[in-house]
Amino acid sequence: MYVCLCHGVTERQIVAAIDSGVDCMKQLRRDLGIATECGRCASCASDCLKQTLASRNSAEGGAK
Ligand code: FES
Repeated sequence: MYVCLCHGVTERQIVAAIDSGVDCMKQLRRDLGIATECGRCASCASDCLKQTLASRNSAEGGAK
């Protein structure tokens, strides 16, 4: 699913960026151009970021 139409960024690309170390909107903005044009994707991208980080953290927490 496309999250950012201005830059053609998909949810999958956001998850891939998080898997390679991105952990904040500032980095998503810098690396993928999220919310650098119209800004309509900011809320959806932020939700995707939070959900993905939460699932990664709970997966790591379960391993400890
Ligand atoms: S949809 Fe992402 S900046 Fe416009």
